[in-house]
Amino acid sequence: MSDKETEIFLVSTKIWMIVVVTLKNADGVQNAYFRDILNIPANATWVKDGVTGAGGNGKGNAINQLSNPYGLFVDDDQAVIIVDWGNHRVIQWKKNDTNGHVIAGGKGVGNGLHQLHSPTDVLIDKETDSLIICDSNNKRVVRWPRRNDTTQGEIVINNISCWGLAMNNHTYLYVADNNKHEVRKYQLGDTNGTLVTGGNDRGNGTNQLYKPTYIYVDQQQNVYVSDRDNHRVMKWVKGAKEGIVVAGGQGSGNALTQLSLPLGLFADIVGTIYVADSSNHRAMCWTQGAKQGSVIVGGNSSGAAANQFNGSGAVNFDQHGNLYVVDFSNFRVQRFPLE
Ligand SMILES: *[C@@H]1O[C@H](CO)[C@@H](O)[C@H](O)[C@H]1NC(C)=O
Ligand SMILES: *[C@@H]1O[C@H](CO)[C@@H](O)[C@H](O)[C@H]1NC(C)=O
Ligand SMILES: *[C@@H]1O[C@H](CO)[C@@H](O)[C@H](O)[C@H]1NC(C)=O
Ligand SMILES: *[C@@H]1O[C@H](CO)[C@@H](O)[C@H](O)[C@H]1NC(C)=O
Ligand SMILES: *[C@@H]1O[C@H](CO)[C@@H](O)[C@H](O)[C@H]1NC(C)=O
Ligand SMILES: *[C@@H]1O[C@H](CO)[C@@H](O)[C@H](O)[C@H]1NC(C)=O
Ligand SMILES: *[C@@H]1O[C@H](CO)[C@@H](O)[C@H](O)[C@H]1NC(C)=O
Ligand SMILES: *[C@@H]1O[C@H](CO)[C@@H](O)[C@H](O)[C@H]1NC(C)=O
Repeated sequence: MSDKETEIFLVSTKIWMIVVVTLKNADGVQNAYFRDILNIPANATWVKDGVTGAGGNGKGNAINQLSNPYGLFVDDDQAVIIVDWGNHRVIQWKKNDTNGHVIAGGKGVGNGLHQLHSPTDVLIDKETDSLIICDSNNKRVVRWPRRNDTTQGEIVINNISCWGLAMNNHTYLYVADNNKHEVRKYQLGDTNGTLVTGGNDRGNGTNQLYKPTYIYVDQQQNVYVSDRDNHRVMKWVKGAKEGIVVAGGQGSGNALTQLSLPLGLFADIVGTIYVADSSNHRAMCWTQGAKQGSVIVGGNSSGAAANQFNGSGAVNFDQHGNLYVVDFSNFRVQRFPLE
């Protein structure tokens, strides 16, 4: 059994809190998924000019470059771990570093265990200190130990058109399948999984998905899905047969009621959703029950200025509430400090 420790940090003069619930197992190994439980106040704002935290040196495969980055994970020490799709690798950038450090793949395109092929998402399983990667074009989910002498991964799930990954704790790995238009959850060693959402062919019904990409699972095991080609975000309350549209769902467009090809997403403790609205080059937040969202960064047409994106991909936060957005066609990751 686990004991719970709740630490409350008061950050800055604004009265806002990040509640970090650290769960420890019997061995004292930290289970840090719940680090993601940020209680971001409704009136929080972020500096509109992003600071480049990784890449930003044009498209390429040097260690200071990225080539269409997609998924993103922010570690405890503000290191960003990026799925570098076009370079078939996962690269880690410590804060202030000018170069990244390849931590998986980067050995050319292929299906060897030392290779990746167009990976789309990554997360860290703290309990086993490993990276879990959606190795998209190899149709598999792989695990790479995080040790610096690691040269290859192992296959966790095979024959799956995975795109997005999520884990609420070590018990379940959730995988979005953008060919079967469904999300399944898997226990360790389980290769078939259990259907969570979708799986009713593609479509825009409330029990359907159309090209699900990124997913997020909260503490109550509610599942949020970026339902990309339906231009909406769906929420599946644990055990529900149908989902609820919680953002978009009004066709593709750039009104505040709409999304256009949503990608990465994150839900905070009160159910506010932060989503990368990729074709609108913006990140939005949608409070629970809202009929429209608000633009938190970007939304100023496509471009390479500090307040712009050219395709906003994944979004994530560090423990201090700073926002990170993958800017895929500018080959960079932007960090937006909390104001
Ligand atoms: C990064 O740089 C900032 C400003 O120069 C400094 O305050 C901070 O401590 C640095 N962080 C790390 C992790 O080196
Ligand atoms: C790998 O990690 C070990 C233990 O943390 C460290 O001593 C060693 O310097 C590292 N090697 C490289 C090449 O980073
Ligand atoms: C892989 O999955 C597809 C689609 O579900 C299925 O048709 C095929 O039989 C599977 N192949 C193997 C080798 O399991
Ligand atoms: C992880 O999730 C499972 C399934 O909901 C739950 O039974 C278990 O208590 C959770 N573990 C922790 C450490 O929260
Ligand atoms: C997984 O699915 C296959 C095909 O439906 C079935 O034969 C097999 O028994 C299942 N395995 C488990 C562990 O449920
Ligand atoms: C859902 O799909 C139906 C049938 O294709 C279409 O008529 C309808 O406009 C779609 N609804 C939305 C909100 O896109
Ligand atoms: C959009 O970007 C341009 C050029 O960087 C800038 O002049 C303008 O103020 C920006 N508009 C908004 C709403 O951020
Ligand atoms: C955005 O990226 C596309 C390639 O994906 C490129 O063709 C286009 O010129 C870029 N637009 C701007 C404004 O940088």
